[in-house]
Amino acid sequence: MRPSALIPALLSAAALVLAFLCLFAGHKKNFMEDYSILTLNTSRLGEGVVNGTLGNSDSTLGSLWDLVPDSIQNDVSEAAGVVTEKLGIEDFYSAHLLDYCYGQYTPTEAANATVSAGDIHKNVTGCSNQTAMFYFNPTQIIEDALNKSGLDVTLDDLEWPADIQRGLDTLRVVSITAFVLYCISIGLIFLSFIAALVAVFTSGRLSACVNLLLGILAFLAIGLASALVTAVIEKGGDIINEHGKDIGLEAGKGKKFMALTWVSTGCMFLVLVMWCVETCVGRRRKGAYVNGKHG
Ligand SMILES: *[C@@H]1O[C@H](CO)[C@@H](O)[C@H](O)[C@H]1NC(C)=O
Ligand SMILES: *[C@@H]1O[C@H](CO)[C@@H](O)[C@H](O)[C@H]1NC(C)=O
Ligand SMILES: *[C@@H]1O[C@H](CO)[C@@H](O)[C@H](O)[C@H]1NC(C)=O
Ligand SMILES: *[C@@H]1O[C@H](CO)[C@@H](O)[C@H](O)[C@H]1NC(C)=O
Ligand SMILES: *[C@@H]1O[C@H](CO)[C@@H](O)[C@H](O)[C@H]1NC(C)=O
Ligand SMILES: *[C@@H]1O[C@H](CO)[C@@H](O)[C@H](O)[C@H]1NC(C)=O
Repeated sequence: MRPSALIPALLSAAALVLAFLCLFAGHKKNFMEDYSILTLNTSRLGEGVVNGTLGNSDSTLGSLWDLVPDSIQNDVSEAAGVVTEKLGIEDFYSAHLLDYCYGQYTPTEAANATVSAGDIHKNVTGCSNQTAMFYFNPTQIIEDALNKSGLDVTLDDLEWPADIQRGLDTLRVVSITAFVLYCISIGLIFLSFIAALVAVFTSGRLSACVNLLLGILAFLAIGLASALVTAVIEKGGDIINEHGKDIGLEAGKGKKFMALTWVSTGCMFLVLVMWCVETCVGRRRKGAYVNGKHG
């Protein structure tokens, strides 16, 4: 019996649940939507079109202008909101590990005098189909929406920067590797949990060593997955914000997702440390016993 092994068992169980949540957050509508990796705020995308149309009513986009109610035609930001909606572009697109979701900000898209930023919530309209090896491709998502809108507006009219996709494409391999590592981590953490349970009922050094080995592997896997996804969040967010600034595109970084994945990594680190101690103490205890027996 080794009752102390209950602690790493519990920590592994916690890490397992957290790693699962990382993988499945947002996999369906309204399931942990706040735990997205990146959130694209596209509510002001129409602004470029509106600005481009303001001066010349004879452009191909002139007809688009007719869709905007007279009452708000002199308010660029309001008009942009309406145009964005007519183009079939949602207020936000949020990337998760398995899919992306989209929807509208309620009660309003931007904070104003009566509605503070904290009062604005995401109202999810739907999510894409789940796919393993999913990769977030905002350029294609927006192009798709424009094609479906039936209006003759292209990415060029939105002044959509090609650099966004070029930048995000460099993160594709990192993002897919992170997904694979989450799957491997979940497997290893599960084994580590089972091994810890077994160790509660046995006391040999072998089980401590097996636990230590599994602990090291699981920690490395979840640690690397967390590092890679953190890189995607930080780098991807910076790329989008840098190139999107001019067209009113904003990216929110997944702070809550990072908290989730790093707490899971922290749990596995503690498990690893405990088995390290247990292996060393176990050796000393056994040494003392052997000496006692022979002495
Ligand atoms: C649209 O015009 C307004 C006012 O002229 C300006 O502040 C804003 O940056 C412009 N937006 C875009 C996307 O060009
Ligand atoms: C969305 O982006 C616009 C333009 O950058 C900004 O004014 C607005 O506050 C953002 N909305 C949210 C909910 O982040
Ligand atoms: C703020 O936005 C809300 C929701 O769209 C609107 O009802 C309200 O009138 C706005 N307040 C101001 C001061 O513009
Ligand atoms: C979310 O949007 C749906 C329709 O798209 C609407 O019926 C519902 O009232 C909205 N929810 C909130 C909280 O605004
Ligand atoms: C999503 O899956 C459904 C049924 O599984 C299918 O009918 C639909 O075409 C898929 N959508 C996309 C965008 O792949
Ligand atoms: C949208 O339409 C353009 C031109 O018709 C086409 O080249 C492009 O592949 C389409 N995009 C998507 C995502 O279907």
